[in-house]
Amino acid sequence: MLVADERAKAEAMLKKIQSGEKLESKEEITNEYREHLLTLMIAQADSELAGAYGYIPWIEGAPTVAEKLAMANIVKDECRHAKAMYDLLERLDIDTDKLIYEDKMKHRMKVFYEPIKTWPDLVMFNFLMDRAAGHQLRDAAECSWGPWSRTMVQIEKEEWMHVKHGETWVRKLSQESGEKPAVQKALDFWFPKVNKVFGKSGTDTNKVYQKFKLKQRDNHDVRLAWYNEMKPLLESYGLTVPGIDVVE
Ligand SMILES: [Fe+2]
Ligand SMILES: [Fe+2]
Repeated sequence: MLVADERAKAEAMLKKIQSGEKLESKEEITNEYREHLLTLMIAQADSELAGAYGYIPWIEGAPTVAEKLAMANIVKDECRHAKAMYDLLERLDIDTDKLIYEDKMKHRMKVFYEPIKTWPDLVMFNFLMDRAAGHQLRDAAECSWGPWSRTMVQIEKEEWMHVKHGETWVRKLSQESGEKPAVQKALDFWFPKVNKVFGKSGTDTNKVYQKFKLKQRDNHDVRLAWYNEMKPLLESYGLTVPGIDVVE
């Protein structure tokens, strides 16, 4: 394509983004937009899958049969979220088998390598991490790439159901005698790790994401929304919440 054509395409694309219209076809996006879109969608796809893998042992580890079913349902939701994300990536001509089986080490967030050792650990991870995903998906649901934005609407609803599950259990365990120290220990363990999943604040890449409306806010603003929501909740259960860090 001629340079002038490329420039005209980029201008038309930006105009559409700025007017709030969704982009729908591969033909109307620039290579730069595509690369940024892929980075974000691959990160989400892998996190959905890694999330499912982390929860699988807790079908067996859950304390009651009703809880085994609840965990199995969360695993099913996360697998469905992963499938929806990999389908979107295939429509952008990505070899998703390669992503899943060869490149996973490149994309997996560190938090998914941490072992979930106990039930209080599991419910705190569920409380913090699904809530982090819920806040991040809010931005994706409003993004300029139409297919991703529409897919996020249902996924986001399910993430908030997962959050409620974590919340119910963290409250229950905090208020049961003897379990509160284990819940506090789990909070102290997971908090700094989940705080990092929002990424660095104020970077140039983040500004490009916002210019393309692939993200609507700076990473730190999303982190703050997450923190300001969960802090009063955890404190109402009698837990001590660590201070928030800006990740630079
Ligand atoms: Fe999910
Ligand atoms: Fe989830």
